[in-house]
Parts: sequence; C-alpha cells; structure tokens
Amino acid sequence: MGAHHLEFKGRDIISIEDFSQAEINHILNVTAQMEPYAKGGSDLLKGKILATLFFEPSTRTRLSFETAMLKLGGSYIGFAEPDVSSARKGENLADTIRTVENYADVIALRHSLEGSAKLAAEFSKVPIINAGTGAEEHPTQALIDLYTIRKEKGKLDGLKIALVGDLRYGRTVHSLAYGLAKYNVELFLVSPETLRMRKDVIQGIKNRIPVAENVNLEKIIPQLDVLYVTRIQKERFLDAAEYAKVKGAYRVDLKAIEKAKKDLAILHPLPRVDEIAPEVDNTPQAKYFTQVWNGVVVRMALLSLVLGAVS
Ligand code: CP
Repeated sequence: MGAHHLEFKGRDIISIEDFSQAEINHILNVTAQMEPYAKGGSDLLKGKILATLFFEPSTRTRLSFETAMLKLGGSYIGFAEPDVSSARKGENLADTIRTVENYADVIALRHSLEGSAKLAAEFSKVPIINAGTGAEEHPTQALIDLYTIRKEKGKLDGLKIALVGDLRYGRTVHSLAYGLAKYNVELFLVSPETLRMRKDVIQGIKNRIPVAENVNLEKIIPQLDVLYVTRIQKERFLDAAEYAKVKGAYRVDLKAIEKAKKDLAILHPLPRVDEIAPEVDNTPQAKYFTQVWNGVVVRMALLSLVLGAVS
C-alpha cells in the first residue's frame, strides 16, 4: 500500500512534529484505504497484541484503539486506570513498560505527565503510541482531526481554521496546531485571556503559517472553513478559583453560527461539557461524531503501519 520510501514499521508515535508533511499525507492515504476494513473487518493484524496502558480517564482513545485492533483481527490487553495496576504499589513507568513489552507488540500509553511517552519509548522494544500526555500532545487525535478536515473539505491547503477554547491546557490543540502548520492554512485563535495558546507552541507555528491571536469569534465566523472547539480542561487547573473564572466563558450555539458558511465544519475532540450547545448537533455543520468514527479508521492505519502490516 502506497509509497515505499516512507518507513513506519517499528516507529514510535510521540509527537506530531516527528512526522513530515509527506508522512502525514501517507498516514491519511492509508487511513482512506482502511475504510472498507473498518466497515467489514480484516485479518491484517491477526496474532498481534496491543496493550492499552491508560493512567488517565478516556472513552474514545482507549476504546477506539481497542476497536481498531479487533477490526484488524488482533487482540488487546491493558488497564483503563492505574489503580488496578502495580503502579498503585509504586512500580515506575520504565518497569511497567519493560514488563508489558513482553506481552504486547505495540503499546498505547496515556499519562498525566508531559514527557512520559518519550520516556516510555526510550525503555520499550515495541512501538509506543502517545495516547495523550498531560497538557502536552495528543498526536493521534491531531491525525484524526487532519483526516476529518481533509475528508470534509477535500483538502487541507487554503483553509481558514479557528481553534476555540482552552488553548493552554488542551493537548489536542497543541498537536493540531503543529500538524496544521505543515500545510498552507490560516489559523485564528479564540480563547479567554488566561487560556491563550502556550508560547512555545505559538513560536513553533508562527514562522510557518499566518496566526491571528486573541480573535473575536463573532467577527471572523463568516470566513471560516473549520471551527475547532475544545473543552476547558478542568483537571489541569491548579486552582479551583481560576477554573471558576473561565468556566462557561464561551459557548457555540445556533446564534453563534448564524452567519457561518453553510459548509463550515464544526469539530471537537470530545468529551464536550457545555461549550457546544446540543442544538448544534442537528446542523449539517456538526462533524464531531463523524470525527469519532474517523478515530477508529485512523488508529487502524497507525497500528498497521507501525506493526509493518502495510507500508
Ligand atoms: N478525544 C479524546 O482524547 O477523548 P478521550 O479522552 O475520551 O479519549
């Protein structure tokens, strides 16, 4: 399947920055080829085992990785919270990885600590996939977002995209911003003052694409092609009073999208709390549950690539 000069077998997926535009395009192309397997099943990864080690809560990422493995004929092991693992007895991450690599061919890791996926990869003989590290990165979600945008809009280049919400603690927007900066897009950042995009991320993308910071959503909504909304990451706030100040600071409802293009794509990595009103779910612009389905297909592609079942 596809271009043979790109090597994915045995690779870790730690940061979206580890991948060139050509490599991302290849992942998205392999994802498109996985669509029939996602619907009809396959034996592509028969005999292979995925370990899902989730030290933080998840619905989509863990279940879609496991679903992806089952649809490819493989199996999975793992835990959904650290309290049922020997981490509870004080075992460190390096020893956990050096144990699980004996059981599985690939490991998907979610952890609250930034740098934990990189550390795991240093100790692991099998590929490590970062399934979300603290407020740092969530590279597979960014690939889902890029796949969804490309599928909905037919392209990535030339689009006007707004990232809305918690741009400081939302790891998905960090990975997505880095991913989008590899294409010719125009980015608009909309957030409460205290939740503005991290400086290191801004600096990493600003010399590559036009980025407008501190934008008023109402003013720019008519020109947007994609509206990417995120939840305020309550669990990352050190101070409950700080969270209380920004809670409910923005909400996308029917009025907010009144002047939007008919083919605007509204995305959200989910979970949502109250930042998108349920009334928006029934509009043709709402694509966040399509995004959920795409999550299975993208993860099927990633597992097949790092395990060398496709190239
Ligand atoms: N989008 C996402 O990472 O969702 P979960 O936290 O439910 O995995």
